[in-house]
Amino acid sequence: MAKSEKKRIGLLTSGGDCAGLNAAIRAVVCRAVNGYGWEVIGIREGTAGLLERPPLVEELGMRVFTGNILRMGGTILGTVNKGNPFAYPMPDGEVKDRSDEVIEGYHELKLDALIAIGGDGSMKILSRLAQKGDIPFIGIPKTIDNDVAFTEFSVGFNTAVSTAVEALDRLQPTAASHHRVMILEVMGRDAGHIALNAAIAGGANVCLIPEIPYDIQKVADAILNLRKKGRVHALMVCAEAVKTVDGEAVWESHVDGEMRYGGIGHILGEQLHKLTGAETRVTVLGHVARGGIPVAMDRMLASAFGVHAVDLVAQGRRDRMLAWQHRDVVDVPLEEVITRYRAVEVSGTLVATARGLGICLGD
Ligand code: F6P
Repeated sequence: MAKSEKKRIGLLTSGGDCAGLNAAIRAVVCRAVNGYGWEVIGIREGTAGLLERPPLVEELGMRVFTGNILRMGGTILGTVNKGNPFAYPMPDGEVKDRSDEVIEGYHELKLDALIAIGGDGSMKILSRLAQKGDIPFIGIPKTIDNDVAFTEFSVGFNTAVSTAVEALDRLQPTAASHHRVMILEVMGRDAGHIALNAAIAGGANVCLIPEIPYDIQKVADAILNLRKKGRVHALMVCAEAVKTVDGEAVWESHVDGEMRYGGIGHILGEQLHKLTGAETRVTVLGHVARGGIPVAMDRMLASAFGVHAVDLVAQGRRDRMLAWQHRDVVDVPLEEVITRYRAVEVSGTLVATARGLGICLGD
């Protein structure tokens, strides 16, 4: 067992779920409980659990070592991707700053540090809470969008890409059988990482991402050129944040009143049908990319981040986020993470790869 003063650490998941969160929870518990002999207090429902009195918590011990958790999608702790405590929407419509309540909830638990597994939005909120409430905080990056700065991969991204590739594998034979253009719309918020990676790995002919403005006629020409060469079907991937030809983002209104990206695939499908005469069909992958069994890379990443997060706490470090860089786990300052955004690099390797493969990027 590693030597260190006995600690009691809090652990929560925050923001949209993804595959690999449970693997990260397991790794934190393995290292903290088995490695250091500490206590791990799981906080339920992200920061919302700290607004409750008493706070919603459970001690994480052997339950986590069932042999199953590593393989499970979602998060056993629950999570929220709304309800920013600095601008909390109250039932009467008022927006209230409830950050002091969250901080009180944390201190009520007599914790020595907080580890949170979250995306870029969560990192911003949690680092602000940590500053305000003097909370020793360590972040583990997760998001299918892969848009957290400084890390090549966030937990959940590789599973989402694999799921999108599997969808393309399934769409290809039906596209070929019916001579259709199959459009797969994928999540990713403002970044095109899922779309670009999936398009390369899944053999798409067209890939539209928000980072590269497109000309719809060029996309139509790419499909018509394929036809001239005797390829009468095509696969196209488009990221949810791709804009319409008029430069408008496409939103869907949800039952909770929130607006989220969604629907661009159908708009493009209609336009491409008009321009090429091809039969188009659209599949919106949606939350399917978020769930499911984490692929090996996500389990490995989550495990490495979890172990190192606990080690950082043992070293008395705070305000750091784990990152994956050049096959290594490193830690980076949160204050820098939260001021940057990681979009697809338009001059990067993957865009060049896509172009080299002849994938039309619409420009
Ligand atoms: O940030 C992760 C993500 O899945 C985005 O890719 C997507 O736009 C959004 O969350 C969907 O949010 P919700 O789960 O609230 O529908």
